[in-house]
Amino acid sequence: MKPSSFDRVAGVELADPALRDELERGLAEVEALLHREVQSEFQFLTETSLHLVDAGGKRFRPMFTLLAGQFGSGGSQDVVRAAAVVELIHLATLYHDDVMDEATMRRGAVSANARWDNTVAILTGDFLFAHASRLVADLGPEAVRIIATTFAELVTGQMRETLGPRHGADPVEHYLAVVAEKTGSLIATAGRYGAMFSGAGQPQTNALRRFGDVIGTAFQISDDIIDIASPAAESGKTPGTDLREGVKTLPMLYALADRGPAAERLTELLSEPLTDDALVAEALDLLRTSGGLERGMRNLHSYAEMARAELAVLPDCPAREALSSLTDYLVARTG
Ligand code: IPE
Ligand code: IPE
Ligand code: MG
Ligand code: MG
Repeated sequence: MKPSSFDRVAGVELADPALRDELERGLAEVEALLHREVQSEFQFLTETSLHLVDAGGKRFRPMFTLLAGQFGSGGSQDVVRAAAVVELIHLATLYHDDVMDEATMRRGAVSANARWDNTVAILTGDFLFAHASRLVADLGPEAVRIIATTFAELVTGQMRETLGPRHGADPVEHYLAVVAEKTGSLIATAGRYGAMFSGAGQPQTNALRRFGDVIGTAFQISDDIIDIASPAAESGKTPGTDLREGVKTLPMLYALADRGPAAERLTELLSEPLTDDALVAEALDLLRTSGGLERGMRNLHSYAEMARAELAVLPDCPAREALSSLTDYLVARTG
């Protein structure tokens, strides 16, 4: 990655040249480590693992770990290792998530389950988990405990989503529990790891973890808006995947709560997973012009505000500025 293209990475605006150089170095080390970790004697596993590593992705989580590392002694080897662990776990969940969602496109490339098949995608995800576990062992038992707990939470969120809200339960509450677990948990750990392995103080570590939790929720809300509102060329994923999977995301829940003919038609359409392309297109059209999308955006804004409030505990420095720009990006990327 050239320095000129590095002014903004994973949505972080890096106005400070020293910080930019350090993060560029750190991310290059993370990349090298990811490539080293997925090597297997069995060449096919290396190929299937590198498929998504090399397809790109925002590297949002490792970037956050490196930035959190700025609140201690900076980018040590352990911070780089922790950042790679988080990205490997994330990658593994993407392989498995695409199997569950029957997705055909990921990071602008054909998904592993579509390029090969479900078995290959599942085993590649497992292989990546195994390598993340091996790598995290180098960081000590506390790090192992944290990632194990995080992963259990993430899986709980995916399972809670699969099951759907209990009869009579508030679907918005259910949604918020799901996104905190499936997305917030790992992003919170990304921040916590960066702080921990750079020797940051406890109040700062806690603040970075809480910030991660909140931007994690904001991140998933914006991802769910993107599934409705952004073309594949921008997101690298197929719009309407949540509709096809029958997952009711926040903008959908808000749109369904509206009154009028559009909401009525949506209720009809979303009563079961959509398989017909024309019906998916119709539902997407209705959602794009619905008040639900707008209300989802407003909610995203308030999570971004909450995240910014967590930053107040941290010392005023270029890394804090960068984290603040990251919250702006989460809102802007849906616009
Ligand atoms: C996708 O995460 C899965 C979610 C939690 C929404 P990202 O949007 O960070 O995916 P990549 O890493 O950039 O591909
Ligand atoms: C899954 O959420 C998030 C994970 C924990 C992998 P989504 O199903 O919305 O993620 P995308 O849109 O496929 O990236
Ligand atoms: Mg998915
Ligand atoms: Mg999604």
